[in-house]
Amino acid sequence: MNRRSFLKTGAAATAALATNFVTAAQSHDLVRCGMIGTGGRGTSLLQTLLLFSQVEVPAVCDVVRERAEQAASLVEKKKNRRPTVYAGSESVWEEMVNRTDLDAVIIATPWEWHARMAVGAMRAGKCPGVEVPAAITLEECRDLVQTSEQTGIPCMMLENVCYYENVLALLRMIREGLFGEIQHCEAGYQHDCRSIMFDETGQLTWRGQHVLTKNGNLYPTHPLGPIAQWMNINRGDRFVSLTSVSTPARGLQEYAGKRFGADHPAAKHRYALGDVNTTLLVTASGRTVTLYFNLMTHRPYDLILRLEGVKGIYLGTTDRICLETENNGAHEWEPFAPYQKRFEHPLWATLRAPALSSGGHGGAEYLMFHDFLKSVRAKASGPQDVYDAVTWSAVFPLSIQSVAKGGQPVEFPDFTANRWKTNPPLPVYGA
Ligand SMILES: NC(=O)c1ccc[n+]([C@@H]2O[C@H](COP(=O)([O-])OP(=O)(O)OC[C@H]3O[C@@H](n4cnc5c(N)ncnc54)[C@H](O)[C@@H]3O)[C@@H](O)[C@H]2O)c1
Repeated sequence: MNRRSFLKTGAAATAALATNFVTAAQSHDLVRCGMIGTGGRGTSLLQTLLLFSQVEVPAVCDVVRERAEQAASLVEKKKNRRPTVYAGSESVWEEMVNRTDLDAVIIATPWEWHARMAVGAMRAGKCPGVEVPAAITLEECRDLVQTSEQTGIPCMMLENVCYYENVLALLRMIREGLFGEIQHCEAGYQHDCRSIMFDETGQLTWRGQHVLTKNGNLYPTHPLGPIAQWMNINRGDRFVSLTSVSTPARGLQEYAGKRFGADHPAAKHRYALGDVNTTLLVTASGRTVTLYFNLMTHRPYDLILRLEGVKGIYLGTTDRICLETENNGAHEWEPFAPYQKRFEHPLWATLRAPALSSGGHGGAEYLMFHDFLKSVRAKASGPQDVYDAVTWSAVFPLSIQSVAKGGQPVEFPDFTANRWKTNPPLPVYGA
């Protein structure tokens, strides 16, 4: 897909957004990005962003001054100019987003800050690239949509899993009809994260505070982003209901007891988040998605990413596939690697070398920033628009509601205001 159709797709998919920002921006146009939140993730994103020659970082911000200064040093080393540092208070980011020399703002702060920072950036005329989840309440979801529609500024959530090589090859295979109609997908964020719920003294970190008080699927977008793209969610179909249940919470308390001692307050908290949360989503056309969420038990990392169509199945856990049209129609698993090569996505075909040398989840972040910068230059949405950001994030508050009601179904809002019926599916777009 060329640049012109990228913009057309973005505009069509976000029909409500003004498209008069689509200018003669070229891929060599400089993009000036500010960074808010320069902790673990912000620093890693910054390192990838700095690899793009047509990116400048005039300003960085973190509550903790040392972190912002460290980020400023990274920028200075790579770009020979030290950015302005904003630090020392939780609201100092507001000053940064109001600078006149920024086109975009990358937001990599704790979850509770994402939506208000993205809204603040859009109101100041800057394109936000916001970490996952983009919002944690339905009100925040609506604010993001409303602000993006009113200002005409695209809002991209930085969902990097959508750029994994297997995920994009599968998107191409679906578009080429190899799976037939997709009926069901299953995925999960299953990652033993107990160690990062506490600092070294046993105080709860910001993540720990969330799991102390909330029970549901608190990190839905990594598994859901790819699935929503595969299943044309908001582009021909949409989620209409959600049901969510959680097991009891045991893992974190047990872990805290072992790490800090049975008498430590960390071992005495009653953590709200159940160890394994299971969520079922149903679409308007009756198709289904199962999501798992587990941060609290001893296990290897696994996104599952099971994709099930009438003509075949893929399973990410084992990276295997079985297709009716291949392998003489045998009902047997085959390795996916040869298919990934055969159905290489055009983005990977074009950007493989710089992506692989950049690191960042195997190169996914490089491709993600490539699309983000393209969207900023054009001031038009790319493959992940504001409606995707809030639909994928809304599982956070909706699952909490359903768990609290003993697993009763809750209605899934239509953030597109019926445009899902006419939005075209995401095409297999190129660089
Ligand atoms: N996409 C991915 O693969 C991925 C991976 C890791 C983290 N993340 C996301 O990135 C975000 C950050 O995670 P992290 O692991 O870097 O956390 P972190 O705690 O290491 O960093 C967060 C930073 O934000 C700063 N901060 C907090 N409030 C602020 C405010 N009001 N203004 C300015 N700075 C503020 C903190 O001081 C800290 O330096 C989270 O939303 C997380 O979910 C995404």
